Amino acid sequence: MHRLCLPLLLILVCTTPALANAGEEFITMQGKNGKVTFPHRKHQELNRGCRVCHSADQGVKIQNFGMAWAHKNCKGCHETLRRGPAQCSDCHKK
Ligand code: HEC
Ligand code: HEC
Ligand code: HEC
Repeated sequence: MHRLCLPLLLILVCTTPALANAGEEFITMQGKNGKVTFPHRKHQELNRGCRVCHSADQGVKIQNFGMAWAHKNCKGCHETLRRGPAQCSDCHKK
């Protein structure tokens, strides 16, 4: 029994695909209106999928990221769910 366990464990470990690049845990954006600290990992852990923000499950660079995107998507989701910051000064810290 024991002689079987180790090889089985090794097969399991070795065939598990390498973890995809999940990006930074926190992403800090420096804007004129004060910096925004975005808890990236926390949002991934909401388990709504990467595609809520990215165009692919691997999390490729977001096209046209900036104020318009952020206020529509970041603030938009917070308002829709009634969770997460929706006031200017809750996101932008001087
Ligand atoms: C949910 C978080 C959030 C809220 C709420 C929010 N913002 Fe933003 N805002 C951002 C993000 C993220 C960016 C994009 C920063 C970047 O492009 O690096 C941004 C960008 C901006 C910019 C452009 C900054 C620059 O230097 O390009 C301005 C100005 C701004 N916001 C003002 C406001 C005002 C005024 C409010 C309230 C009416 C507000 N924001 C509410 C997250 C937020
Ligand atoms: C709530 C929005 C949101 C979710 C959900 C999210 N991300 Fe991101 N992610 C961002 C933002 C914002 C950036 C920084 C801006 C950019 O990359 O254009 C970023 C950046 C990244 C980067 C760095 C991209 C680069 O080329 O610089 C990777 C990798 C990444 N995310 C992976 C993931 C993966 C994998 C998931 C799902 C498990 C995920 N993200 C879920 C918002 C999100
Ligand atoms: C799909 C919905 C969704 C999107 C898109 C989204 N958020 Fe959130 N965000 C949430 C939820 C839900 C919470 C509350 C999490 C909690 O309280 O555990 C939250 C919380 C936060 C918080 C507070 C974290 C804390 O520790 O209190 C910040 C800051 C934030 N979001 C910034 C952003 C920014 C910046 C973006 C865009 C780059 C963004 N969010 C996009 C759903 C979203």
